[in-house]
Amino acid sequence: MRSRIVGTGSYLPAGVLTNFDLEKRMDTTDAWIRERTGIERRHIVAPGETTVDMAEHAARAALEAAGRSSAEVDLIVVGTCTPDLQFPNAGVMLQGRLGNLGCPALGVEAACSGFIYALSLADKFIRAGEAKLALAVGAESLSKITNYNDRGTAILFGDGAGAVLLAADEEPGILSTHLHADGSYLPLLRCSGGVSAGHAPGGDYITMAGSEVFKIAVNMLARAVDEALEANQVSRSDLDWLVPHQANIRIIQATARKLDLPLDRVIITVADHGNTSSASVPLALDIGVRDGRIKRGDLLLLEAFGGGLTWGSALVRY
Ligand code: ACO
Repeated sequence: MRSRIVGTGSYLPAGVLTNFDLEKRMDTTDAWIRERTGIERRHIVAPGETTVDMAEHAARAALEAAGRSSAEVDLIVVGTCTPDLQFPNAGVMLQGRLGNLGCPALGVEAACSGFIYALSLADKFIRAGEAKLALAVGAESLSKITNYNDRGTAILFGDGAGAVLLAADEEPGILSTHLHADGSYLPLLRCSGGVSAGHAPGGDYITMAGSEVFKIAVNMLARAVDEALEANQVSRSDLDWLVPHQANIRIIQATARKLDLPLDRVIITVADHGNTSSASVPLALDIGVRDGRIKRGDLLLLEAFGGGLTWGSALVRY
């Protein structure tokens, strides 16, 4: 048994933080941010709005797109590094909202690779015959761990959620997933505090050595896309769409160049929501599906890279 994507959904909060808003708060400019990152605006949760609220919107949209009921879902995996609570995990909290009580529900923390990890786990449960209809979700309230006094990170991050509904099928939809992590890179990208290590004075915020992370991201993503293509005996020209992690337009362009893909075969949404970490790939996927660019039968390469460092890919026949 294999798994196929039968529905996608996404959600962006109504509140918008533009580059011009940031210009008023820190020493930066709209021109610098657009040139160096491709980002124009980010969406920010309203007071009281949470990661699980956004995950629920995205999950319900994916269920509706597939014409399936939440009662049928027998596995939930939510990738997030900004869960509502320390516990229960975000997957269990989402399950409580959807009402399909009793099925396994997990939270996966792999920073920006969280959705690729969630998708891979859901696919493996289905392949193993342990689930028939699984939700893989990425949802983040990154604004809660963004230091708006640090122009090196504050310009990058936003909030949002995306979801994919996977169904068991004899025809393969998820052709492969490849996951990686290298914990030796901890000093380059991390959240400055937490429950066990202790909260950082002044708040727990993302800290990042931006240009070092940039160079490593370009190299690791180049290797990750080669790995996915080689494992499936697929050539670059067979790909219909690259659906990349939306971190920085220059990283996306470098990966597209590596694949010899023109940018009109790449789903690029980073301008509208910045880096939403684990939400970014399913958000871009849902946007590409709903605006009609991604069609049934298309071959998609999904990839992500983030804190850990973690990275990975999924090759998908949509
Ligand atoms: N506005 C104006 N100037 C700035 C800003 C800003 N917001 N930020 C930095 N600068 C300045 C720097 O101070 C530096 O000035 P200097 O030359 O006088 O020293 C200059 O611009 C260049 O700085 P760099 O850091 O080298 O700029 P770079 O081109 O690398 O862009 C960025 C920075 C956008 C952060 C980029 O490095 C990047 O996107 N990195 C990767 C981010 C990423 O993908 N992270 C992984 C996922 S995140 C997660 O997992 C949670």
